[in-house]
Amino acid sequence: MTLPRQQPSRRPTVLRREAVVAAVPVAVAALLVAASPAAAGTVGAAGAGDPYFTLAGNGGYDVRHYALTLGYDTGTRHLDGKTVLTARATQRLTRFDLDLKGLKVTGVTVGHHKAAFRRDGQELVVTPRHALRKGQEFRVTVTYRGTPKPVTDPDGSLDGWIPTDDGAFVAGEPQGAMTWFPGNNHPTDKASYDITITVPEGRAAVSNGVLLGQRTSHGRTTFRWRQTEPMAAYLATATVGKFKVEQFTTPDGLRVYNAVDPREATAAAPVLKKLPSVLAWESSVFGPYPFRAAGSIVDHAPQVGYALETQTRPVYDRAPDLSTLVHESAHQWFGDSVSLTTWKDIWLNEGFATYAEWLYTEQHGGKSAQKTFDALYARPASDDLWAFAPADPGDGSHIFETPVYARGAMALQKLRAAVGDPVFFGILRAWAGGHRDGHGTTAQFIRLSERLSGKDLGALFHTWIGTAGKPSSP
Ligand code: ARG
Ligand code: ZN
Repeated sequence: MTLPRQQPSRRPTVLRREAVVAAVPVAVAALLVAASPAAAGTVGAAGAGDPYFTLAGNGGYDVRHYALTLGYDTGTRHLDGKTVLTARATQRLTRFDLDLKGLKVTGVTVGHHKAAFRRDGQELVVTPRHALRKGQEFRVTVTYRGTPKPVTDPDGSLDGWIPTDDGAFVAGEPQGAMTWFPGNNHPTDKASYDITITVPEGRAAVSNGVLLGQRTSHGRTTFRWRQTEPMAAYLATATVGKFKVEQFTTPDGLRVYNAVDPREATAAAPVLKKLPSVLAWESSVFGPYPFRAAGSIVDHAPQVGYALETQTRPVYDRAPDLSTLVHESAHQWFGDSVSLTTWKDIWLNEGFATYAEWLYTEQHGGKSAQKTFDALYARPASDDLWAFAPADPGDGSHIFETPVYARGAMALQKLRAAVGDPVFFGILRAWAGGHRDGHGTTAQFIRLSERLSGKDLGALFHTWIGTAGKPSSP
């Protein structure tokens, strides 16, 4: 199983019992409006309305595209950045926020005009010269520089631009994107990206999507990456280091780019060799792979302690084992292509990716998913596994803990047993296909499962994802 390797913190003893099935589907629009009373006026809200990360994302606009131009000096750890966002106003805006933590902003323009700006914690507050009309497309350019520093998440882990001995490990779940570029840092707002990074010659800068080109001059190499399909900010990377690179195109036209820290190369090779077959197997189970590019970034970053499913190209803090590769690959469907609207729904990412590991084992000569379920069910009621309801981690400090991963996967095994294999795999494919390049909520998943099975699954989901404590029967 792939769990973040930091110590899970203990759960408070008060556990909330809430019927997940009764939860009102959370519309993105409602989130934006609910975020702050100011959202009703002409000032964009400071957050997207996520109860776990109240300042994450912003109200009043939708980003269509990010163009990032970065220069990173691995010696001084200095970053020079320019971010151009193309966005559309969803309300009249006299002022709006971007998320950015640390770094020094040297200029902001909106359209052709210089805009006023100030910093307020993680908010970069922008006042354009002219108010933006509702529906107006606009372009924001932010220039900035400084030494990026990671954030410490509520669970104690490092997140964002994390320096390494030869560059930086760059990941952003759930919050770290704002440590290296200004944006709308919540998964409700997905956009396409062009990421251009210049690093000292001899280092590589590896990002999402397809490598458009690479050029070296005067001792510096520029890498130009393009992520065409919509991506949540937390899935962006620009990992820098000394890497051995391997590139090829699969028979079905998938562009694969693997970058491996030489210190991890021997351990990583046999696992990375399986990437095409893992993606082919996952495509046969979940439906077509959602992106045109694939690959891996295997860094040597022991201080990180986790891997992340960065879009098209997961980033690993060390050579992954096969289960971890299967897990991060499955996130390309569940989490990356079908995204969360609220961090509370994190089991839709982690429970599904964990279940993919169980399925892979089952279909490759190992124990059945039911056996994995049974072994987990045998754990005593006092085990951390039962500490809280997978669909209700309570706050941002528990979103990467065992109930989300393992019990979330157990819920899928219960669903499979209740509806039978043909319907179950049909549900997984319909989920990935129907919400491709978009979003999905827990309530929508339950409705889809009920519709395709013709069964009332309220009690099953209530027990397995909506209730804390060990269920009385497996
Ligand atoms: N989504 C990652 C996984 O596949 C875990 C990321 C953990 N991030 C963190 N800041 N603790 O399991
Ligand atoms: Zn995961």
